[in-house]
Amino acid sequence: MNDTTTGSRAVSVVILKGGVGKSTTSMNLARQLAEHGKTLFADLDPNGHATNGLGFEDAYQSDINLGDIILEGEATPHDLIRPTDHRFDLLPSSDTLEDVEKDLAGAMQGSARIKSKIVDPLLGEEYDYVVFDCPAYPGMLNNNALVATGNVMIPIEPGSSAIGGYKRTMERLIEPAREYIDVDVLAVVPNKLSDRIDQQTEDRELIENLNTATYEVNPSQPLKEVVPDFARITSEEFEAIDTGEITPPKPGIRHRSALSRSLQHNQPLQDYDPENDQIVYYEELAEIVAAGGIER
Ligand SMILES: Nc1ncnc2c1ncn2[C@@H]1O[C@H](COP(=O)(O)OP(=O)(O)O)[C@@H](O)[C@H]1O
Ligand SMILES: [Mg+2]
Repeated sequence: MNDTTTGSRAVSVVILKGGVGKSTTSMNLARQLAEHGKTLFADLDPNGHATNGLGFEDAYQSDINLGDIILEGEATPHDLIRPTDHRFDLLPSSDTLEDVEKDLAGAMQGSARIKSKIVDPLLGEEYDYVVFDCPAYPGMLNNNALVATGNVMIPIEPGSSAIGGYKRTMERLIEPAREYIDVDVLAVVPNKLSDRIDQQTEDRELIENLNTATYEVNPSQPLKEVVPDFARITSEEFEAIDTGEITPPKPGIRHRSALSRSLQHNQPLQDYDPENDQIVYYEELAEIVAAGGIER
């Protein structure tokens, strides 16, 4: 919501579709949040892209996994958490996470395990911020992330399949969770923009749709109010773009090869290419998390 509560916060980066930018967004968000306070980046996706992308293949294949903390109770989060060279700590994924997910389904309070065993003990104590990178399918890991954070950011990209993914996320993940807990959508974040918005492109369609969408994404908050400033273009501005009165802005987050290259070099963008023009957008996302919502 548009409150100004400061303090510690956890957020899940979710969308029920692969390849949209969950790992890229969550890792770079964690990197910028680390400038605001102590940050834990938690990779909950069994594919381990973020963990391996950061160069922690050994942790991904380690004998100890999330299940030892949240199911067996034999390990503590500290047995798993690794420091990184990027100012945040990493709770790594593991190649056995799919088994953990299955076991969670049969466990008492299976959706609240990450909250009770990891986030509640650490958030506001050792960490100011916790960011979850989530799987692309619905299930116990996504449910745990929602329960543990109560806050989500949803990346989205141009094209109808990402919009379908957004709708699935609301209908199959967030709305069912809201029968039991509060889930606050902090922001819907356009990603991989590569086209002009002064012509009828998929980029324009996405930006225009988001900025005019009046249906509620949060109780009494329309979708258009959770679009970050960097992607906010009003109907008046679109008219001025079409009549040539203003040069069309290039909203973020744009497609940048440095973003995919950075992971091949085991780094968030800030450390791989500190001059990159997209870093300000991740900084804006970090400020939204720190503030608990978009302030206008
Ligand atoms: N803004 C961007 N510009 C260029 N490449 C991007 C951008 N965002 C994501 N990618 C690339 O797209 C692919 C999918 O992104 P990823 O973050 O792994 O998505 P997800 O975690 O949702 O599956 C990756 O190869 C990533 O490097
Ligand atoms: Mg991913």
